[in-house]
Amino acid sequence: MTTPRQRYRRGRLAAAFGGLAAATLAVTLAVPAAAAGSTLQAAAAESGRYFGTAIAASRLNDGTYTTIANREFNMITAENEMKMDAMQPSRGQFNWSSGDRIVNWARQNGKQVRGHALAWHSQQPGWMQNMEGSALRTAMLDHVTQVASYYRGKIYAWDVVNEAFDDGSSGARRNSNLQRTGNDWIEAAFRAARAADPGAKLCYNDYNTDNWQHAKTQAVYNMVKDFKARGVPIDCVGFQAHFNSGNPVPSNYHTTLQNFADLGVDVQITELDIEGSGSSQAQQYQGVVQACLAVARCTGITVWGVRDTDSWRANGTPLLFDGSGNKKAAYTSVLNQLNQGGTPVPNPGNPTPTPTQPGTTPTPTPTQNPGTGSCTATYSEGQKWNDRFNGTVTIRANGAISGWSSTVTVRQPQRIIATWNGSPTWDASGNVMTMRPSGSGALAAGQTVSFGFTVQHNGDWTWPTLTCSAS
Ligand code: XIL
Repeated sequence: MTTPRQRYRRGRLAAAFGGLAAATLAVTLAVPAAAAGSTLQAAAAESGRYFGTAIAASRLNDGTYTTIANREFNMITAENEMKMDAMQPSRGQFNWSSGDRIVNWARQNGKQVRGHALAWHSQQPGWMQNMEGSALRTAMLDHVTQVASYYRGKIYAWDVVNEAFDDGSSGARRNSNLQRTGNDWIEAAFRAARAADPGAKLCYNDYNTDNWQHAKTQAVYNMVKDFKARGVPIDCVGFQAHFNSGNPVPSNYHTTLQNFADLGVDVQITELDIEGSGSSQAQQYQGVVQACLAVARCTGITVWGVRDTDSWRANGTPLLFDGSGNKKAAYTSVLNQLNQGGTPVPNPGNPTPTPTQPGTTPTPTPTQNPGTGSCTATYSEGQKWNDRFNGTVTIRANGAISGWSSTVTVRQPQRIIATWNGSPTWDASGNVMTMRPSGSGALAAGQTVSFGFTVQHNGDWTWPTLTCSAS
């Protein structure tokens, strides 16, 4: 048996030999969705991952920049515009304009957003830099609550706390005004963020945490382990991954990512850049991508800017496109590595499943005679392609029912493009499909029936939300 991917590869290989082109072209066209990705986002999507970039609002007028960003990336981080100083320049006065420009650009182009960063010792507004103690704690929590609430529903993952640990061998927390409010400031920030936006994944984000042997890596690991043990709401760990010759990609990178993932959190590479050029830079990039793709819970990679000239470390030419927007050797090595595939991400893009999250939404409903039961709708994933995925909903009668209907709500920019085993109707927005049985909907207690659909995801892999009503 061959997989569609293998068939595609063979088709492409054979096509290169000219004489067989006509025969193999048919094969290639028969399985277009399995084609190797020709952009970073498409290639990453093959294994359920995203590929992102940092965006600067000031560059959104630059056509070369936006063309590349729109074509290659499907996860967007504001490089500076959602930091504390940008969001709350004066106490109690929030300025959403630059953050909104980036979030709106991303969403209009069908991309998801990583929020960066709610609480950080750096890039604090002046008024906050001068604060200490309980007044600062209150101000920090208020900031987290206000910003996460404002962007609620629009953020895939938040960097809730950024860079809270010391470099060097101590494994200690970084001394900062936030740390001086008490060692529990980090978990307090996570709790406030969860309350404000329960749908966003909540991440701890840091640098120099790539080498498993380093004290800082161990210290962050121990904090995450402790948070998981005590139920502090943390879903992910971000690895900034700013590399250069003094701080190269460690050979144990995969170990680090896997060990964190084994704590029950997603891992994400959040600010990747690697100073250098040519094949040595390309090789290091490849190593990072390979390490992420080998870890099921490494859900995506973000590079910290588009072209070398956009980088905060422009002199180190650390990105995937040169100043003119040409693809560098590093770009090609990343794309090729992504196209090698990897361990698929389970439930890509979906917030940590809890009973209240999309995916499984039991909805007990009063029923009419003769049914005594309610029904439960359960989602299960089907096949995934670059651009779309299949889902199945299983309806279970919790007691005898004479009929049922089930709503499937997808999130903008998703679209349901096909259904089977049921009769669908749609609401005005097109986001909510109500599925009813094609024939009789009567089910005995405990009996199940399934229907299916295809979602064109447009970069958003979130599972639909479901309800079930029995009659
Ligand atoms: C950097 C930005 O790229 C620069 O434009 C800004 O002057 C300083 O901050 N860690 C982080 C990022 O979490 O927010 C930083 O971004 C880079 C280091």
